[in-house]
Amino acid sequence: MIVSLIVAASENNVIGKDNQLIWKMPADMKFFREKTTGHHIIMGRKTFESTGVLPKRTSIIISRNNDLTVPENCLLAISIEDAISKVKNDEEAFIIGGADIYKQSLAVADKIYLTRIHHTFEGDAYFPEIDETKWELISKQEHQPDEKNQYAFTFLEYRKK
Ligand SMILES: NC(=O)c1ccc[n+]([C@@H]2O[C@H](COP(=O)([O-])OP(=O)(O)OC[C@H]3O[C@@H](n4cnc5c(N)ncnc54)[C@H](OP(=O)(O)O)[C@@H]3O)[C@@H](O)[C@H]2O)c1
Repeated sequence: MIVSLIVAASENNVIGKDNQLIWKMPADMKFFREKTTGHHIIMGRKTFESTGVLPKRTSIIISRNNDLTVPENCLLAISIEDAISKVKNDEEAFIIGGADIYKQSLAVADKIYLTRIHHTFEGDAYFPEIDETKWELISKQEHQPDEKNQYAFTFLEYRKK
């Protein structure tokens, strides 16, 4: 099984504000849905509070609170390692955020799917800078803004060296 981070970040690495996403980019939401559907998705408790249960995926919610109640069909994990150990029968598991979880899971991840939104935003949650001595860019697809997607964006895929 491989462990992949999947994230959308602005030019200044902002990923959210007030526990919400900032932009609405349907093309990126479609990409996220297509990549993660049918797989396990691992997230921090705050991201779970923001997104709720995403259909057709198995959610694993990470919290230090052992007593946290999670919805039926979701799993609770007490650490990133615990979350990964709970993934069964899946060739790719996705770490879907947020900032706290991304920062801690770069060390265990094999891949990063980064959607770079070509705009600068103010926010309070950030994706870490990708260290290109550790990560190799293996795919890059640039897209211009259109009637549904306000900002130019690029799908980037990195593999750990
Ligand atoms: N743009 C994107 O792609 C994207 C994706 C996802 C999220 N986001 C944004 O990111 C922001 C949320 O990020 P965040 O950093 O505030 O929160 P987060 O990473 O979603 O969740 C943090 C929580 O996870 C738990 N946790 C963290 N490390 C842990 C560990 N080692 N062991 C056990 N539990 C651990 C703790 O929960 P407890 O407090 O319950 O112990 C902690 O409070 C929001 O703005 C959201 O919209 C953006």
